[in-house]
Amino acid sequence: MNESTLYKAWLQYGSKPAGEPFATYRQLLGQIVILGEQDEVYATAVGELKAGLQAMLGIQPVVLNEAPLEGSCLILRTAGKAVIGLVPERQGSEPARWDTGRDAFTLRLVSADGTLRLELVGGSTRGVLYGVFRLLFGIAQGWVPSRLAAREQPVNQLRMINQWDNADGSIERGYAGASIFYRDGEIVQNLKRVRDYARLLASVGINAISINNVNVHERETRWITEAVLPEVARVAEVFRAFGIGVFLSINFAAPLSLGDLETADPLDPGVRRWWTETAKRIYRQIPDFGGFVVKADSEHRPGPFAYGRDHADGANMLADALAPHGGLVIWRCFVYNCMQDWRDRSTDRARAAYDHFKPLDGNFRGNVLLQIKNGPMDFQVREPVSPLFGAMPHTNQMIEFQITQEYTGQQRHLCYLVPQWKQVLDFDTHAADGGAAVKRVVDGTLFGLTYSGVAAVSNIGDDESWTGHPLAQANLFGYGRLIWNPELSAEAIAEEWAGLTFSSDPEITDPIRDMLMASWPIYESYTAPLGVGWMVVPHTHYGPDVDGYEYSRWGTYHFADRDGIGVDRTVSTGTGYTSQYVSPNRERYESLAQCPDELLLFFHHVPYSHRLHSGKTVIQHIYDSHFAGAEAAAELKQAWGAPALQDRIDPLRHTAVANRLAEQAEHAKHWRDVINTYFYRKSGVPDEQGRTIY
Ligand code: GCU
Repeated sequence: MNESTLYKAWLQYGSKPAGEPFATYRQLLGQIVILGEQDEVYATAVGELKAGLQAMLGIQPVVLNEAPLEGSCLILRTAGKAVIGLVPERQGSEPARWDTGRDAFTLRLVSADGTLRLELVGGSTRGVLYGVFRLLFGIAQGWVPSRLAAREQPVNQLRMINQWDNADGSIERGYAGASIFYRDGEIVQNLKRVRDYARLLASVGINAISINNVNVHERETRWITEAVLPEVARVAEVFRAFGIGVFLSINFAAPLSLGDLETADPLDPGVRRWWTETAKRIYRQIPDFGGFVVKADSEHRPGPFAYGRDHADGANMLADALAPHGGLVIWRCFVYNCMQDWRDRSTDRARAAYDHFKPLDGNFRGNVLLQIKNGPMDFQVREPVSPLFGAMPHTNQMIEFQITQEYTGQQRHLCYLVPQWKQVLDFDTHAADGGAAVKRVVDGTLFGLTYSGVAAVSNIGDDESWTGHPLAQANLFGYGRLIWNPELSAEAIAEEWAGLTFSSDPEITDPIRDMLMASWPIYESYTAPLGVGWMVVPHTHYGPDVDGYEYSRWGTYHFADRDGIGVDRTVSTGTGYTSQYVSPNRERYESLAQCPDELLLFFHHVPYSHRLHSGKTVIQHIYDSHFAGAEAAAELKQAWGAPALQDRIDPLRHTAVANRLAEQAEHAKHWRDVINTYFYRKSGVPDEQGRTIY
């Protein structure tokens, strides 16, 4: 079957013309030499290479097991042993710090006696696979061979994807169709699409995936039982071939829910035994199983609190069960009171993760990682960085991003999120002298953590384009590239993605890069203003509803009245949340004068007449940004309609994107008018420019 351009995403591998640089490649890659220890990842790498070369260059290279005496060739080699499992083997009793050198690769051009050879050396077979994709990306973008020379090593250890897929085939916060993993309560029989997904993920360096929703329902609780494990093992086998370790989200109350025990108390010997046996059972079926992802005592999910135990008790019990097999426990910090009384102004959801977890620093086992959302609330278009980063020097930790666009337009609006993630990773926590950026916490170097990394909620489903909005593919691609190397610029990633996906001609990559780069600020400007967040329709989270969450139990308020708006999170007069930051961040957010405009309403309650650093009043900023944002959304649509794109992008994809951009432009007007009208009616302050507000 011929796959569509939508489906192929950034692995288009279109056929290349005669002439340079492809003529050189055709010559160089006619022979491939495979050296070193072989495993299924190596086999995948070779298979990818052959398929990519056939598609782009029309060649079928000869595969050899030793270097030929003469002639050009590509030599593949591993520096180390084949990889078994995700987590490096222990040295002695304590796990050694995870060395990402196993995922590294070197690409080198060697010329001897007038013949050119290309060498690809992987730190392991996984490194070879990453190097093969890099080589294919280079050819796809028409690079001259010399540009391929590279020595790359991923910065982050765990580079993970979290699926929020449910057994019934639905996806929590999924905006691109149904699950590719499950249907009608079962794991799908035909895993072709899962395999194609694994391939996309491996091509950008992802090495771990959790395959079910963090909210584990009755059906998925059974994924760890003898009856279902062979099914999970089938999925793990697919990912294994791409160097990706599989994790399961588990139900903390599984011993109870499955009817085996009367309690799930983490200190109960019977419960501990139950998990130990469960772990053995899993590893018998899946020897390289990654471990568990756990949402506990969060949004009504069961956890250790029911037994008067804390998060460390809960996590450590699971960690002890997994430790003999090298498994990890990824314990989420998204814990807060979701039954808050909106009348109660002293409780502050933003404080919750820090208040719960900071006191437990140092209490977790060595194979536990805390997974911390990038912000203190929940993936809003703009939030400050979670103050937990930098606050737990003795605890393995990773950051959680959301690729799926729950609060950022649900893949009906364009919102390229790499700039947002980059801003978070670059944020200086000041937790140590001389540079304590979040990226150094999550790459483990700041505190010398044994395990660390990055996870993100996937944005894919069974939609032909994977992501609903074809341009939202850039977020999945960009996530992988950014966490491989957080020093890459968002612009460079956008260009690379556009080059692979459409064409590397700057007439195409430049405007697409510009659209992507403009999109997050545009989305922010016509939705909730100045960091306040949450003005969305409850439950679905799509579209404006300013007071939708204002009188609810979720702890997500803006406190707008006739005089002003915003949440006072200061120490002096508010909830004291600012105290969770290290100086000088603490003082910067505490001070009305110093607080950055973009986060003003997150930290302060101010009158509408308050003047921003921009010189505008808050109310005028709301009007101006919403008028400008809706206009800019319309301009995105126009930019996509430009002849350079319209004429040169295949109609299937051009139309799919054009339709989304048209919907966005309309919906942005709706946002503009709802928000502006709300604030005009609340405040009674007219727009200085007298534009139409209803
Ligand atoms: C958000 C989201 C939920 C999800 C939760 C989580 O609140 O709306 O659907 O379950 O995050 O991260 O656990």
